[in-house]
Amino acid sequence: MKIAKSVNRLGTEAVYNIFAKTKKLAQEGKEIIDLSLGQSDFKSPKHAVDATIKALQDGHHGYTLPNGIIECREAVSRKIKSLYKVNINPERIVIMPGGKPTMHYAISFFGEPGAEIMYPDPGFPIYESMINYTGAKATPYNLTTNKDFLINPEEVFSLINERTRLIILNNPHNPTGSFTKKKIIDELAKGLEKFPQVTILCDEIYDRLIFDDNEISTFFNYPNLYNRLIILNGWSKTYAMTGWRLGWGVWPENLIDHVFKFCVNNHSCVNTAAQFGAIAALDGPEDHLKNMIKEFKIRRKLMVDGLRSLKGVECSLPGGSFFVFPNVKETGMNGEKFTKKCLEEVGVAMIPGTAFGKFAVDNVRLNFATSRENISKAIEKIDKILQ
Ligand SMILES: Cc1ncc(COP(=O)(O)O)c(C=O)c1O
Repeated sequence: MKIAKSVNRLGTEAVYNIFAKTKKLAQEGKEIIDLSLGQSDFKSPKHAVDATIKALQDGHHGYTLPNGIIECREAVSRKIKSLYKVNINPERIVIMPGGKPTMHYAISFFGEPGAEIMYPDPGFPIYESMINYTGAKATPYNLTTNKDFLINPEEVFSLINERTRLIILNNPHNPTGSFTKKKIIDELAKGLEKFPQVTILCDEIYDRLIFDDNEISTFFNYPNLYNRLIILNGWSKTYAMTGWRLGWGVWPENLIDHVFKFCVNNHSCVNTAAQFGAIAALDGPEDHLKNMIKEFKIRRKLMVDGLRSLKGVECSLPGGSFFVFPNVKETGMNGEKFTKKCLEEVGVAMIPGTAFGKFAVDNVRLNFATSRENISKAIEKIDKILQ
């Protein structure tokens, strides 16, 4: 069997390996506190579940248009208008089976040998994986140069060259939990005007999970970039709907035909009944999200205070998402050793920073979208191995 070389260049997400390991340890009877996952412990909103059940009962069982039912695209457009005060034609919106396909398609459109694509390091591992798959050069920009992991526009500009075709941005950011404020994003957007050959893929999947009354700093604020701006978003994080596989992308008009063809060649259309649930989530009351944010703020404090109380652990306060990314260097261990010891000796699962690139050698990622009890217990357990 001769497999295409490109397949061997694909990477993965370490979270799935750790998931398999924690399952095995749990089966062996070990108590595990899993802080490795990229999802919250909240259930999806009831009105989304009810609308999906109703859609099935009403007979919505067939294929839909590959870019999504018009009602769902209109609901996304309405939401964007209500949040960001901009009008986006529903024809530029494509409903996807999750947030990931938008990055997969965008990277596929621009990546090929000879091209360069920039991405954050540390960053969501699929960016680098997909860039390598296409044969393009993966050029990381380093987010560990400041302790709050904020995007540094000057560094980003310094790495752009005539081969750069796409730059990937992610704010709020996974894995660091950093939130780059509008003032810096303004600077970034202004500077990118000077590089018209570069398309921008802005991953805003955590846009509603921000704390401290910060203003959302979306790329929708820059209409002069719309002709080369792709915005990735979806239902997974905001509405706790990770397993539904629902996302949306906003694309420049001239890419829509290509996206449509990719959908036809790949998945035909997104689960029809789920799209009705998606509309209900967008149009329904936001109490669910408000409660989630309120609870996450409490858990964030518990987690950050707890980590800061540990010997040798430094932790900045995340401004968004549900992740913390402490530095463990002063414990005498790097992130990988720390992760291994925590899992094997006290049953606390997390992810080493190196699962997100090459720069965050001394960091680990923990998810605080779990019960307060789990967070307190995890801190107590980690404390034991640091004595
Ligand atoms: C930064 C980022 N982008 C995209 C995704 C993909 O989201 P989905 O599960 O909807 O495909 C994730 C999921 O963890 C993420 O963290």
